[in-house]
Amino acid sequence: MLRIVKSVLFFGLLWLTACKQSPKSSQEMNENTKDTLVYQEPFRPQYHFTPASKWMNDPNGLVFHKGIYHLFYQYYPDDIVWGPMHWGHAISKDLLHWEHKPIALYPDEHGLIFSGSAVVDVRNTSGFGSTDNPPLVAIFTYHDLAKEEAGGTDYQTQGIAFSLDNGDTWTKYEGNPVIPNTTIKDFRDPKVFWDDSSEQWIMALVAGDHLQLYASANLINWTYMSEFGKEQGAHGGVWECPDLFELPVAGTNETKWVLLISINPGAPNGGSGTQYFVGDFDGTTFTSNQKEEKWIDWGTDNYAGVTYNNTPNGERIFIGWMSNWEYARDTPTEAWRSAMTLPRTLSLAKIEGAYELLNYPIDGVDTLLERQTKTVINFSKDKIGNSMELSNGAQSEIRFETSSRDFSIYFSNDAGEQLTLTMQGNPKQLLLDRSESGLVNFQENFANIQRMPMANLPEGELEVRIFLDASSLEIFINKGQYVMTAQVFPTEPYKTYTLGYTGVDFHMNNGIIHEVKGVW
Ligand code: FRU
Repeated sequence: MLRIVKSVLFFGLLWLTACKQSPKSSQEMNENTKDTLVYQEPFRPQYHFTPASKWMNDPNGLVFHKGIYHLFYQYYPDDIVWGPMHWGHAISKDLLHWEHKPIALYPDEHGLIFSGSAVVDVRNTSGFGSTDNPPLVAIFTYHDLAKEEAGGTDYQTQGIAFSLDNGDTWTKYEGNPVIPNTTIKDFRDPKVFWDDSSEQWIMALVAGDHLQLYASANLINWTYMSEFGKEQGAHGGVWECPDLFELPVAGTNETKWVLLISINPGAPNGGSGTQYFVGDFDGTTFTSNQKEEKWIDWGTDNYAGVTYNNTPNGERIFIGWMSNWEYARDTPTEAWRSAMTLPRTLSLAKIEGAYELLNYPIDGVDTLLERQTKTVINFSKDKIGNSMELSNGAQSEIRFETSSRDFSIYFSNDAGEQLTLTMQGNPKQLLLDRSESGLVNFQENFANIQRMPMANLPEGELEVRIFLDASSLEIFINKGQYVMTAQVFPTEPYKTYTLGYTGVDFHMNNGIIHEVKGVW
């Protein structure tokens, strides 16, 4: 049953049947993917990264080198549920069109290959390459299953590997692990970066309920420096996948440091989510006087996200895993499981007196936008808005500006499925109701209504930008100040887009709808 109230004003947008993507030639595909790369299966994202087949979770080793963005990821090549972890690998020149590469890292005698990062060792501090051909070095967690099964608490250690051919082949360091056993059960997900001011490598690592920082001159010998967070932030679950970086505060001469921490469970809308802290880092210790919990994304499906090292102009580019440990293994896809978020640029701003971390699609996403339909909508209670057509409902970008704070957006299809977004002014919040959005019964918590409080949302004209792909929705309010990412599984593409308001007159400026080109 659709829940559109009769009195709501609406404009319906008829969506033509989704264009089929032509399958990519298989010549560049590796042996793991050759036979399976069809990218036309039900729910297959058309402009988000997915593995050609099988299970994927966290993004790993995000690094730019010699014109190439690398995306490694937690990968299990034998099933569509989590299993012994490898690092899958893909490369891209624009973070949108990806080429699948052979698996980069396989489990070995030290364990499975859990999450981590990669750096370009420009000064060849490790000695693995030369200054003429600096090595790519991957830093990751080993998870020793046998030790875990034997009841130990010391089964996670940190290892490294290097590549001298820009990520094509990897050699594990013979002295692994470089950070040995501790008695901390959850001790993982190293994020390493070069710190210019202290001129050393810094590793951010999580240890159960807190962050630990280590330093190294050569990526091999690590010294413990400090810890953060036992008493700060959200602690509903174990801390995972840290990231630490500096950003300018927009419009000022100030810079601040940002710490990302994923936690599972304990996210505001259930299951896993990623919080952040704004603070300072002096080369040894991270501190923050932030009191409230802050989340990079309030939707249920943006987890374990981290940022690129070594980007061309120092941009901070973030990619998250578009799923949630609550139901990641249950989602209704067959050939593969789960996708990455759109790549997003992170920036810091002071809004209403508070430091806010914004995340917003990279500018390059605009190159995927085509067949623009302009919508000029400025209507009041007794006037029906425009009606228009989209050429491809399953792949759309919808954008407008409004000063209204009381309206709903309904996406619906002929199967009677509906996804509802509701913006409210008092209290300021956005609700995402996917309880009738399509297939929802594969897990008990999926059919939820997600709530994003927006206490710091300024008054006045703000942009609302929405990206729909075959099985996801990403909503960016005020250029990424407030963001929600959620998976949805409509059995037919949403065909009608309806906007309704519940408050005073609704005004929309610069309303634009685009078809988003597929990337495969
Ligand atoms: C986060 C995580 C990491 C771990 C990896 C294992 O989703 O639990 O902490 O390294 O997944 O696949």
